Amino acid sequence: MRFEGQAIYVTGAGHGIGRATALRLAAEGGSIAVSDIDGPAAEAVAAEIVASGGRAFGTTCDVTSRDAVDASIADAVGRLGQLNVLVNTAGGDWNEPALGEIPDELFDRKIDVNLTGVFRCVRAALPALIAAGPGSSVVTIGSINGNWAFGGYAYSAAKAGLEILTKNLAARYGSQGVRFNLISPGTIRTRNWTVREDDGGKRARKYPLGRIGEPEDIAAAVAFLASADASWITGINLPVEGGIMTGGLHDLIMEG
Ligand SMILES: NC(=O)c1ccc[n+]([C@@H]2O[C@H](COP(=O)([O-])OP(=O)(O)OC[C@H]3O[C@@H](n4cnc5c(N)ncnc54)[C@H](O)[C@@H]3O)[C@@H](O)[C@H]2O)c1
Repeated sequence: MRFEGQAIYVTGAGHGIGRATALRLAAEGGSIAVSDIDGPAAEAVAAEIVASGGRAFGTTCDVTSRDAVDASIADAVGRLGQLNVLVNTAGGDWNEPALGEIPDELFDRKIDVNLTGVFRCVRAALPALIAAGPGSSVVTIGSINGNWAFGGYAYSAAKAGLEILTKNLAARYGSQGVRFNLISPGTIRTRNWTVREDDGGKRARKYPLGRIGEPEDIAAAVAFLASADASWITGINLPVEGGIMTGGLHDLIMEG
């Protein structure tokens, strides 16, 4: 029960990694603002937490809108009375054409959702996190795409940008009691991958640990970094990727 008495805001919590994270942090005693652009999904996850005896409510929020982020986080702080942890999960990638055909709007949109969205949430949450500190924390979900040269141009650039954003914030706000850390997941079985998982286990075999990840693998790492167990850890980029960056990545790059 590492989060007993703590108030936690999770973006992108309606599905996948964000949902698993909200469930995990609630199971460890946290009160969760389950935030997502998909309002019904956020409400459903909050209801699931409440049904199992936890504390949560759903909030609809598009991280590409400053007004929506400011209003949703202010409302959550009001309802929860404080804010101890922010988890930035909202994000995603979608197909892009060959380089010469990529319109500015598509590039900008990917940066907006995956990088600027995190900045917006941190900007809105920071005063409450400082007020609740020391011991407050922000955990952001990056990607191995931000660490190696493969994947979409804008998505990878956004995820790489999260690392230096995290380090800057960690360096500047550590003395005010707030820690900032990044997690870089490998392939995780979410709705994006289940539709592509008809490869007879080819992708799983590229991972030294012999499988792709589950959302719960990432949720466990978020719980550690957000908790007092990590109270002397800040500014790191933690790979949670079944060893793919140690062995197997070359094959993955060649596969495209
Ligand atoms: N699944 C993977 O293999 C993988 C690997 C590395 C990193 N990631 C990252 O993990 C995070 C979660 O992805 P997932 O795989 O769970 O996918 P997902 O699509 O299941 O979850 C993403 C969530 O973000 C929400 N979202 C999307 N745009 C939003 C916006 N503008 N405002 C608010 N919410 C928004 C979606 O509604 C959804 O609930 C993403 O940042 C993704 O880039 C995923």
